[in-house]
Amino acid sequence: MSMKIMVVVASTRPGRLGPAIGEWFVRATAATAAELEVVIDVADLAEVGLPFLDEPEHPSTGVYVHAHTRAWSSRVDAADAFVFVTAEYNFAMPATLKNAFDFLSREWAWKPCLFVGYGNTSAGSRAVQMARGVAASMRMLSVGGDVYLRIADDVVDGEVVVDERRAGQARGALTQLVRAADVLRPLRERDGQIVAAAAGDVSELVVLQRACWVDEAIANRAFDLPALTETAAQVEVSLAEWQVWVIRSGGRLIASVRARRDGDAWLIGRLMVAPDYRHQGLGQQLLAHAEAHAPAGTATIALCTGVRSTGPQALYRQAGYSLTREGAPPGSVLLRKAATAGSVGNS
Ligand SMILES: Cc1cc2nc3c(=O)[nH]c(=O)nc-3n(C[C@H](O)[C@H](O)[C@H](O)COP(=O)(O)O)c2cc1C
Repeated sequence: MSMKIMVVVASTRPGRLGPAIGEWFVRATAATAAELEVVIDVADLAEVGLPFLDEPEHPSTGVYVHAHTRAWSSRVDAADAFVFVTAEYNFAMPATLKNAFDFLSREWAWKPCLFVGYGNTSAGSRAVQMARGVAASMRMLSVGGDVYLRIADDVVDGEVVVDERRAGQARGALTQLVRAADVLRPLRERDGQIVAAAAGDVSELVVLQRACWVDEAIANRAFDLPALTETAAQVEVSLAEWQVWVIRSGGRLIASVRARRDGDAWLIGRLMVAPDYRHQGLGQQLLAHAEAHAPAGTATIALCTGVRSTGPQALYRQAGYSLTREGAPPGSVLLRKAATAGSVGNS
C-alpha cells in the first residue's frame, strides 16, 4: 500500500539553506522512495505561508476559522509520516516550525517522524532535541536514525556535499520511517471519529451516498436525485464548495455530512449513515457536529429532505427542527431551526 511522506522544510528566511537540505534528502532517498511506493510531498513552510497562530479555538477541536489552517490541516492529514528538515536558531528549532506544529493537533497524531538537522557547531542537534519533544507531545513517534549536517563540513556553495555514507543513512532512515508508518496505520484510522473529508474519500462517498439514497428514492418515487446520479468528479468539486466530514470504521467510510454558508443560513446536507451502521447515534452525532460549525452571524440552520423521507424527518424534528414546505423544491420539505449562541461561532 502506498505511503505519503511529508518533508517539512522549517526555515523561511530569505537566502536560507533549508530548501537545499530538503532537496538533498529527497534526491538521496528517491530510489528507496520509489521502491517502497512512497509519495513525497515537500512542504516548504515559506510557501505554506502560515501567519502566527491565529485560530480562536484549541486545535484539538478541529474547528478552524481560516482557509490557511484548513489547507494546512488537509495537507498534514494526508501524510502518513514526516521528515522535519530543521535549522538551529539560538539553540532551538525555528519559530516557524513550532508555529506550524501548534496550528494542528490530531493531524499529527500516530505518525512517525524523522529529523534532518543542520547548523554550525551542533549540526542542528539541539533544534532536533527540542522539536522531538514537541512532536512527542502531539503523539508523533520519533523513529531515530536522524541525519545531521554540520554546515562547515557538509555544505559547499549552498549544496550538500556528495557523501555516499550519509546518503545511505538517509535511505535507511526512510525505510525505517515507512515501516513504522505501516505498523502505526491502525492507530491512524481513527475509528469512529468525525474528521474532515479528504480528496481520497471521494469514491467511498459516491458509494455511500448511492447506498443511502436508494431507500429515499423508493420512498419518494424519485430516482433522479443528485445523491444517486452524481459522478466522482462532481463529488470531488463539492468537497471544495462544502465543509464535509466523515466517520470511518475499520478503515471503511461509514457516515458523512456536509454544510455551507448561504447568506445568514447554515445549510446542512447529505447526512448519511451506511445501512449496516444505523441506529447507533452516528446521524445525531454528525448533525450536532455540523451545527457546531455554523459560522458567527448564522441566524438559521436549514436542511432539506424528501416529503416522504419519514426517517430523516423524525431525526431532524427530534433535533429541534420545524418542517415547512414553503420554499422547498418540488417533492421536498425544508427543516429549519434558529441558531443558538451555543451552536455558532466559527466560520
Ligand atoms: C537567528 C539565527 C540563529 C542561529 N543560531 C544558531 C545556533 O544556535 N546553532 C547553530 O548551530 N547555528 C545557528 N545559526 C546558524 C544556522 O545554523 C545557519 O545560518 C543555517 O544556515 C540556518 O538555516 P537556514 O539557512 O535554513 O535559515 C543561527 C542562524 C540564525 C539566522
